[in-house]
Amino acid sequence: TNRTFTMIKPDAVENGHIGAILEKITAAGFKIIAMKYTQLSVRDAQEFYAIHKERPFFGELVEFMTRGPIVSAILEKENAVEDFRALIGATNPAEAAEGTIRKMFATDIAENAIHGSDSDANAAIEGAFHFSGREIY
Ligand code: GTP
Ligand code: MG
Repeated sequence: TNRTFTMIKPDAVENGHIGAILEKITAAGFKIIAMKYTQLSVRDAQEFYAIHKERPFFGELVEFMTRGPIVSAILEKENAVEDFRALIGATNPAEAAEGTIRKMFATDIAENAIHGSDSDANAAIEGAFHFSGREIY
């Protein structure tokens, strides 16, 4: 068993998809071991997405991720990182497979409904960024 980290992004929250997305996640066998409803500050978003700071879309990404509340969570499952990336689908929903969360709920490559960690190391870093030890069950 291992862990991944996710955020339901502001577009999906605005569009009323929190419940449907959590249903897909739990139906796929992920156990929620930490969860909160919160809003990122500009500094939070810049730090969280620091790896993309040289990209032309960095400013847009920070603006998007801070414009409203998100749901952040740590999920547990065997092969969590890889299986969760498969469940959410490609970054661009136009290229995402049928039945994936991004295919069903994302708007476009920028406003793509959900985040999933891309490695075990990043899952640990991202989970610790959002949750203290006492918030993980
Ligand atoms: P995350 O799970 O959110 O990390 O997405 P990803 O791993 O599928 O994609 P990546 O890490 O490459 O990009 C991070 C996020 O930046 C994406 O999920 C989008 O929200 C945003 N993004 C990626 N490409 C573009 C782009 O071309 N334009 C804009 N505006 N945003 C982008
Ligand atoms: Mg990424």
